Amino acid sequence: MIEGLLFEPEALCNALVAQGYFVVEHAIEDDLLLALMLEAQAGDPGFRPAAIGRGIEQTKDRSVRNDEIAWMNGATPAQMRWLQTMRDLQVCINRDLFLGLFSFESHFAHYAPGHFYQKHYDAFRGEANRRLSLVLYLNQNWQASSGGELVLYNERSHVLHKVSPRLGTLVAFLSEEFPHEVLPAKQDRFSIAGWFRVNTSNAQKVDPPV
Ligand code: OGA
Ligand code: MN
Repeated sequence: MIEGLLFEPEALCNALVAQGYFVVEHAIEDDLLLALMLEAQAGDPGFRPAAIGRGIEQTKDRSVRNDEIAWMNGATPAQMRWLQTMRDLQVCINRDLFLGLFSFESHFAHYAPGHFYQKHYDAFRGEANRRLSLVLYLNQNWQASSGGELVLYNERSHVLHKVSPRLGTLVAFLSEEFPHEVLPAKQDRFSIAGWFRVNTSNAQKVDPPV
């Protein structure tokens, strides 16, 4: 068991091998979960409109996504614990699956009512270095009627899974294999998204980008 986690890392690894994604409720210890939720709700992280892509290819096309995000830098005890828990998880995943995960990056996200993120991949084969995507939801008493589901598709656009963004639910999926979207919600919707990356440094480019 990993400090802070309420599921066995082996369960995640087995699901990744069997189907490429993993969904679990009550994923995180209460005190850490509540601290992260309060931080997100308070807006302390300093949310900014999310961009699409990296570096010079970055745009802020609000027709694709209009959430706002705040990158984590470990500035608070809760952020430090979350990032450490994910680093511990990374070690377990590498030991079980030989994915060669090298680093973890994570941000808070806030979707105001009506906001969405259209169907997208988190990474493109052969290009990007995001290998495993992870989302943790931070919404207490979320009702089905509030919408805001994460919809996971297979590569032929069939719906595989719809996840309601309820407090403590965690989703992980292989970044290059699953198109997914965030449906509009009727209420403010808070989450943490994170990505485990592999290192693609070479002589021309240092990775991860600073
Ligand atoms: C993302 C994303 C899903 C969610 O930030 O890339 O797909 O449910 N988020 O918040
Ligand atoms: Mn995504």
